Amino acid sequence: MKTTVSTVQKMKDNGEKITMLTAYDYSTAKLFDEAGIDTMLVGDSLGMVMLGYDSTIPVTVDDMIHHGAAVVRGAKDALIVVDMPFLSYHTSVYDAVANAGRIMKETGCTAVKLEGGKNVCPQIEAIVNAQIPVCAHIGLTPQSSNMFGGFRVQGKSEEAAKELIEAAQAVEKAGAFMLVLEGIPEKLAAIITKKVHIPTIGIGASPECDGQVLVYQDMLAMYGNFVPKFVRQFAQVGEVMQGAVKDYINAVKEGTFPGPENTYAISDDVIEKLY
Ligand code: KIV
Ligand code: NA
Repeated sequence: MKTTVSTVQKMKDNGEKITMLTAYDYSTAKLFDEAGIDTMLVGDSLGMVMLGYDSTIPVTVDDMIHHGAAVVRGAKDALIVVDMPFLSYHTSVYDAVANAGRIMKETGCTAVKLEGGKNVCPQIEAIVNAQIPVCAHIGLTPQSSNMFGGFRVQGKSEEAAKELIEAAQAVEKAGAFMLVLEGIPEKLAAIITKKVHIPTIGIGASPECDGQVLVYQDMLAMYGNFVPKFVRQFAQVGEVMQGAVKDYINAVKEGTFPGPENTYAISDDVIEKLY
């Protein structure tokens, strides 16, 4: 059954955990959808894990549309959220609505996500008024890493924690249907999750959230050697892929692939006439 913005609200209300993973292409989206994931995020993390940039800053609206449309084609039931990339919503409310509209129209996704608290509430309100559901994202927001001076857990001081609680309430009031909490302490995530009515989705934000999201290359051990504290590697897929590639290389070098079962035949009568 198709997951919608009202489904995830009901899940929070019923105390049922919401599962989310990133996806960036058709075949992966189809695998995750068939596995039963509730929602998939076409994250601007694609800049790093799919395109090899060292941050999310260079990602464009066109990049997001290219990958977002592929994920939507692969997903039958999951709710698809597509990230708004850096500078696609900061310049003006008009630009935010225009870019969110392009993303929804050209990908077929159900919702967009953008980073920020009070500073992006006018944008959230206007995008929602345009009938485009918005997922908000506060805490460690990677598009702000140059302002933060790196990637570190947010909301540890009283002032910072209060600011995040207010940000969560502000984005809810502006009309966000869901809220990603990234890189914040467990007890703060618990307070925010209680104070807002919309579902919270955590990454590095403890089991106190209403749901969880991970970048799939992290949870499948397909990206780099550094494993952040908030990641659990559920399988060593990178190793499995490399093992299969090594077997393929050896089989081709040895001449054991393709085998007879992989090869097409032609009748000897035809072959005779070719000599
Ligand atoms: O871009 C992304 O993958 C994200 C999630 C980590 C929340 O924004
Ligand atoms: Na993102």
